[in-house]
Amino acid sequence: TTTELETEFERIVQSDQRIEPRDWMPDGYRKTLIRQIAQHAHSEIIGMQPEGNWLTRAPSLRRKAILMAKVQDEAGHGLYLYSATETLGVDRAELTENLIEGRQKYSSIFNYPTLSYADVGVIGWLVDGAAICNQVPLCRSSYGPYGRAMIRVCKEESFHQRQGFELLMTMMTGTHAQRDMVQESVNRWWWPALMMFGPPDDRSPNSAQSMAWRIKRHTNDELRQRFVDMSVPQAEILGVTFPDPDLAWNAERGAYDFGEPDWDEFMQVVKGNGATSVERIANRRAAHENGAWVREAAAAFAARTAAPDTT
Ligand code: ACO
Repeated sequence: TTTELETEFERIVQSDQRIEPRDWMPDGYRKTLIRQIAQHAHSEIIGMQPEGNWLTRAPSLRRKAILMAKVQDEAGHGLYLYSATETLGVDRAELTENLIEGRQKYSSIFNYPTLSYADVGVIGWLVDGAAICNQVPLCRSSYGPYGRAMIRVCKEESFHQRQGFELLMTMMTGTHAQRDMVQESVNRWWWPALMMFGPPDDRSPNSAQSMAWRIKRHTNDELRQRFVDMSVPQAEILGVTFPDPDLAWNAERGAYDFGEPDWDEFMQVVKGNGATSVERIANRRAAHENGAWVREAAAAFAARTAAPDTT
């Protein structure tokens, strides 16, 4: 009976075991996972664009090779996560349609332009740093395919974060102009990076249920705080500051106090009014349309190799 199935589902979740694709799950659980994992996959795919923008202008062969490897990793994460979403009964082609038709979201962070090469370092350090902070707990997500996908994704994100930090370290030991470029980039990315964690807990409609289902293991504000606490000492090592006059150590809490991100800006970006929102989707649509012949050729080849031998 449904009650028995529900009890079994609850037992699995509450005992920190995994729900697997063939297990019974409530419709809401399935829908929430499809929403979150698809949004996550779309973010990885759209996230190739801001950094991809600098591939042709990387300052050395070494930097170009690193950046190319990193951007390719993001494509891999996207494909991996689309596969995880497909285990819930949706089709990848449908997900791509949803993205390019604006029916599904992707992370707000990728709607900001990359204006200097320092942005490559700052994205690695702060954006991938925030991504790791959010995603490491997701390795323990109650849905098996998602949690397992996160393990590999997090390992690669850690490499991305380090390459960003190393690039910034190099720039910070360079010329005045290079140091200024890094600080200017940090100023632009700090607040958008904090927004990646989503709206504040009292304005996060999905958090309570997702926490109860153990899809999410921490609230948006908890992870944002963790990210701030982790980033401040790293900024000190680099020799940059964050553009927040309210940022201060709070000895009582044993954590940093910090200012409020501009949530109106966040809402605008999420609605599709970010600086590069239109361009990102237009590029994705063009890539999809230009790749139609590859999909057709692959399908034709698969059909031919699967056909019975008539010779
Ligand atoms: N950008 C765009 N939309 C966002 C963002 C964001 N940074 N944060 C929240 N939202 C959306 C949510 O998707 C939700 O919209 P929906 O109900 O229409 O789907 C709405 O804002 C309200 O937010 P929450 O109720 O807090 O949503 P949720 O519980 O899903 O939490 C979060 C949002 C924290 C982003 C969660 O979905 C998550 O952890 N996702 C996995 C990580 C991820 O997607 N990372 C992508 C960026 S990192 C990278 O790719 C390098």
